[in-house]
Amino acid sequence: MSEFHPEPLNGLKRTHYCGVLRLEDAGKDVVLMGWVHRRRDLGGLIFVDLRDRSGMTQCVFNQAVNAEAFEKAGLLRNEFVIAIEGKVAPRAVPSTNETLETKDIEINVEKLHILNPCKPLPMNISDDQIPDDGLRMQYRYLDLRKPRMVRNIALRHKVAKSVRDYFDGQGFYEIETPILVASTPEGARDYLVPSRVNPGKFYALPQSPQLYKQMLMVSGLDRYFQIARCFRDEDLRADRQPEFTQIDVEMSFAERDDVLDMIEGLIHHVFDSTVKAELPEKFQRMTYADALEKYGSDKPDLRVDMVIQDITDKVGKTGFGVLDAAIDEGKRIKAFVVKGQGGATRKEQDLFKNFGVAAKLPGLFFIARTQGAVKSSLLKYLGEEKAMEICKATGTEEGDLLVVAAGESRPVSVALGKVRLDIANRLNLLNPKEFRFLWVVDFPMYSWNEEENRLEAEHHPFTSPLPSDVDKLESAPLEVRAAAYDLVLNGCELASGSVRIHQRNMQERILRGIGLSMEEAEEKFGFLMTAFGYGAPPHAGIALGLDRLTAILAGESSIREVIAFPKNTNGVDLMSGAPVVVTDEQMKLVHLKYDL
Ligand code: AMO
Repeated sequence: MSEFHPEPLNGLKRTHYCGVLRLEDAGKDVVLMGWVHRRRDLGGLIFVDLRDRSGMTQCVFNQAVNAEAFEKAGLLRNEFVIAIEGKVAPRAVPSTNETLETKDIEINVEKLHILNPCKPLPMNISDDQIPDDGLRMQYRYLDLRKPRMVRNIALRHKVAKSVRDYFDGQGFYEIETPILVASTPEGARDYLVPSRVNPGKFYALPQSPQLYKQMLMVSGLDRYFQIARCFRDEDLRADRQPEFTQIDVEMSFAERDDVLDMIEGLIHHVFDSTVKAELPEKFQRMTYADALEKYGSDKPDLRVDMVIQDITDKVGKTGFGVLDAAIDEGKRIKAFVVKGQGGATRKEQDLFKNFGVAAKLPGLFFIARTQGAVKSSLLKYLGEEKAMEICKATGTEEGDLLVVAAGESRPVSVALGKVRLDIANRLNLLNPKEFRFLWVVDFPMYSWNEEENRLEAEHHPFTSPLPSDVDKLESAPLEVRAAAYDLVLNGCELASGSVRIHQRNMQERILRGIGLSMEEAEEKFGFLMTAFGYGAPPHAGIALGLDRLTAILAGESSIREVIAFPKNTNGVDLMSGAPVVVTDEQMKLVHLKYDL
């Protein structure tokens, strides 16, 4: 590209973005700057679609009117960076592209400045095709030029801005907390940073600002929020990144419902400033126990009904070995209704069965109501009358299908919960434009860690148990419920929080509960417990996943689509190459040696 001598801006000022000019601007002299999205050569006319983050405008180079600019336009290729000076005119030939916002106008170019050329591209920007993922990540700066990505990044900005506006209006301070910290236990592995000046010692990157925000409450700062970067060394999925962003919140003198009300207000504010969907004033609430029983998940997707029902007593003994044995062993028979699928073909039913197998549920049965009759492989055991009774009791109407399975109560619910979602997906019942919020409350305090053979905190060990369950902390710890809550949106865990412990003796009890000796507890969390001794107010809080919220608002299925520079599934940034090998000299400085 040696023939180019890119021009400097030389004081030239842009007058408009490329996506903003309309018919009423006709006659204006304008200066636009941006990228050549497409160039079309029509003999004595060259059309260039000029693009920037706001959109596109058609620029016309007419040989008969301005031979010099026309000549120069012949050099343009896709993604050249240019500036044009010209006059806005109504389009000579109307655009057929109804979605193009500038479709009624074009610019008659008087002067073209080529600011920088562009080499042949490794990926296409001018169509909405999604190229190979590796390529997208390696050339992320090109990928981010695509209108869809620009929309997502702009939406993320709007979400963050409305979060700040909302909390400012509610009297919260945004306070930054450190990135080089002592380890915070959120259940994942830490990223470690060696200290040069403290040989053999390490910082951890924060998994969340949890302990700091609690300290801010002890400080009396009363209401804190932060759009906070968090780091967790865990296996990546569509909704997980090793570094991600939380909308982190803490409130003093607050109980559970104060936090829930505050976050409902936040969600309304964010939706009003972005997608403008109708949301209920108050979000539905469900206990953790109910969520598992009825939807087989602690994050039920309520866009579909299909509630799991226990039909053990309605089925009773039938002479069918599998079900009879289940009843004898104290297991449960559970079912859910799929509306309108009574006439599902054999092939379709086999597909549903495969969903069952994938969910570790080998025995999936169906009772179908179709053409005025009941059809089922169980009919010879149940008899028609009982089959119809079961249908009536479960709300299986003419044209519907009842999906049935047996097993241990909780596992069979969980497996049916997966089948429920697979079927909903298969039938396209999950509308991405519908937003179903749900608060799941009263989580268990502890869960059992099989590998380490000990109790662990289901949320985190700074969560308060429900006062009514405190008596069982030592005698029946797995029955203790916590004052912990999750906000679920369309089957995605959007936020998690709890009322916190603010007294030393309770904190000690919980840390002992998860198997820490008093020495270990003191060493790791002594500063927190000491602080509790100096007048800690009751406090509660929550953290929302900003990436997850934005992805759902954008209608994207992966949070990578709303993060400017995400990592791939191996935690690698394909653009910069991070993580990278460092020199022996750098290693020495931080007192480290390889042992690979
Ligand atoms: P928790 O660990 O549940 O709670 O995290 C809160 C929310 O953060 C989001 N999230 C993630 N998003 C993307 N990638 C990840 N790897 C990732 N991990 C979590 C989720 C989740 O609901 N300190 C507590 C909050 C509190 O008690 O106030 C905490 O961090 O949307």
